[in-house]
Amino acid sequence: MSGTVRRSAIRGSGSALPEHKVTNAELATRVDTTDEWIVERTGIRARYIAGEGETTSSLATLAARRALDAAGIAAADIDLIILATATPDQTFPASATIVQHNLGCNGGIAFDIAAVCSGFLYALTTADALLRGGNARRALVIGAETFSRILDWEDRTTCVLFGDGAGAMVLEAIDVDPSDVNAPGIIASRLHADGAHNDLLYVDGGPSTTQTVGKLRMKGREVFRHAVVNLAGVLEEVLTEAGVTVEAIDWVVPHQANMRILDATARKLSLPPEKVIVTVDHHANTSAASVPLAYDEAVRDGRIKSGDLVMFEAMGGGFTWGAALARV
Ligand code: COA
Repeated sequence: MSGTVRRSAIRGSGSALPEHKVTNAELATRVDTTDEWIVERTGIRARYIAGEGETTSSLATLAARRALDAAGIAAADIDLIILATATPDQTFPASATIVQHNLGCNGGIAFDIAAVCSGFLYALTTADALLRGGNARRALVIGAETFSRILDWEDRTTCVLFGDGAGAMVLEAIDVDPSDVNAPGIIASRLHADGAHNDLLYVDGGPSTTQTVGKLRMKGREVFRHAVVNLAGVLEEVLTEAGVTVEAIDWVVPHQANMRILDATARKLSLPPEKVIVTVDHHANTSAASVPLAYDEAVRDGRIKSGDLVMFEAMGGGFTWGAALARV
């Protein structure tokens, strides 16, 4: 069609959580912490922890099936799978290929993206570029993690903050009229990385160094400081790129690291808190899974509706960070 532009439309979403929910009170029996400390500093009240047999790929597969059902699209019609994860089943091959096989949609492209907590934004932006470039027509973009397996359960400063889970979206390439402000699809996105801050948030192991999986290490206070500045910056960039004001946004679906980061970022941008989707209280920080998990929850409970303008944003280890604006 002439006079049109190609966009990636979000056709459906799905999510999956492990069976076992762990409350702060339960954690306090294993670690020197209290429900009061965790709630006051983070807003977290509970998280889900993967049990035996629950893996990153099994959670990802379940979330992907639910997203395909919601989209009304068959697995066989998917020709691109990008899985954002820092906790893959194996060092290689990519867990995306395991999900591909589980779903029975062989052929096409499948790979993992490692950008930790901003992994879903990296995956979404990469899928969008591949769809717009004609490399694929229908994509599954998944964020899935089992961070419980890389936590140091003796370290109260980190182990109370994270949880496991998966979220997925189905994207489809469509042609839209660029002058139609209500046309669906991803309108703009921006990604960033700054490798100078490796020592603030990292895993102290890996195949090429220690030949162990390693454990998560974090200087929480430093991460907090960078997060608010970086997120506010990239959100402004995406709004400028899209030519949209902050008032036009219906919903913000942020990475769910900490209630205080969500509040501080919203304040910095003068975003009304009631437009911010919050799941950190019951999911904790699920890294790459948190954005699609939160999105799916808000779609299924009827808050996010077809036609809404939704901003996604995340920041994580690396540091990496990014944001994307879509009409859903
Ligand atoms: N239970 C009880 N006390 C705890 C605790 C816990 N789980 N974890 C830390 N503490 C203690 C510390 O030991 C310290 O005690 P001290 O003063 O006697 O030394 C005190 O609480 C304050 O620790 P501090 O690390 O300075 O707290 P904070 O206000 O910075 O909050 C975080 C800690 C981790 C909640 C906060 O820094 C944060 O949210 N950072 C961002 C982390 C994040 O979101 N990372 C992921 C980005 S993708």
